[in-house]
Amino acid sequence: MLILGIETSCDDTGIAIVEADERRSKRGLTRIFNIKSNIVSSQIKTHAPFGGVVPNLAAREHLKNIEPCLKTALKEANLGMKDVDLIAVTAGPGLIPSLLIGVNFAKALAYKYNKPIIGVNHIEAHVIAAILSNSIQYSRNIFPAVALVVSGGHTQLVLMEKLGKYRIIGETRDDAAGECFDKVAKLLRLSYPGGPAIAKEAAKAMTNDQFLISNQIPIPKLPRPMIEHKNYDFSFSGLKTAVLYLVRDIKQKYQLFSDRAKDGINIIPKICAEVQQAIIDVLIEKTLRAAKEYKAKTVILSGGVAANSELRRQFELKIKSEELKTNFLIPKLKLCTDNGAMIAITGYLNRKQMTKKYDKIRANANLRIG
Ligand code: KG4
Ligand code: ZN
Repeated sequence: MLILGIETSCDDTGIAIVEADERRSKRGLTRIFNIKSNIVSSQIKTHAPFGGVVPNLAAREHLKNIEPCLKTALKEANLGMKDVDLIAVTAGPGLIPSLLIGVNFAKALAYKYNKPIIGVNHIEAHVIAAILSNSIQYSRNIFPAVALVVSGGHTQLVLMEKLGKYRIIGETRDDAAGECFDKVAKLLRLSYPGGPAIAKEAAKAMTNDQFLISNQIPIPKLPRPMIEHKNYDFSFSGLKTAVLYLVRDIKQKYQLFSDRAKDGINIIPKICAEVQQAIIDVLIEKTLRAAKEYKAKTVILSGGVAANSELRRQFELKIKSEELKTNFLIPKLKLCTDNGAMIAITGYLNRKQMTKKYDKIRANANLRIG
């Protein structure tokens, strides 16, 4: 089966063509996915001056890019629309102006070429991306799984009993983890998106030279919001405010005119390392506590923030050091951030729900996974 996957929930226009196949053998069912093309058009340049995604600008860019992306995806896969068996599109959650572009484009294509269509939950797709990146087949022995989905728009802990059976056990009460990275980066006048920019600065704090320079100024520990709370909810908006006061206090105390490399002192790398560590500590602590409580056989880390190499490394280390007997699954880097392939694959796995009643497919900014 050939599936066209369409993703426009935030600021990436993603179109992919995936070929899916199933084989039964003595060992059970094997699903084979061949990503024939996976085109992502990023809008970083559009949103960078604002330090965050501007929904109406995002919609305008999706509108401009979606057709060229489809053409490139088909060309790369050496296929035409007539070859496609199913159109899978992100129905939510996400920004409504962005979602509407993808959903309406998918419906128009489906109508024109008389194809079935399926609406896909974006969070489920992030989780599926992690499972498939590790070529682990859906089988009972990976469930129950606890999945942490961390991106610019979402921070959710999802208990997965089997494919299609999910329960949100915790989520952010304010900013998402990625949003916190983005807002802190804006505050520190780093580039957008903030996650990779902060990770890059934080890495400098580890190198000897930077370490010596910044050692002249000790950076106090930032809060780890809600880390002690018994529930699995998160809160990241206070961290941004804590950074704002931290920069102000350091500048006053040490009479620095700038947080930049003036006077031979650059406090940015160490602050970034501390912010990144605060976020990592909270994410790991809550996820592993949930994994223990729900006796998870698998821990999944997914979404744009899962691209953070320190987060990946420390997660792995902690799981090993606590001798948790769980699988740990993370997507390949390209499948961490938003893309059409994860939508196509998730659409295929849920294909029982495909329809030609196109008005049943609606964009829903607040679509829930469970
Ligand atoms: O999943 P995604 O592409 O889009 C949403 O659904 O939001 O995630 C984008 C988010 C941004 O907030 C970005 O700053 C963050 O993922 N991100 C990172 C890294 N790469 C992307 N955060 C931390 N470290 C990274 N290396
Ligand atoms: Zn996403």
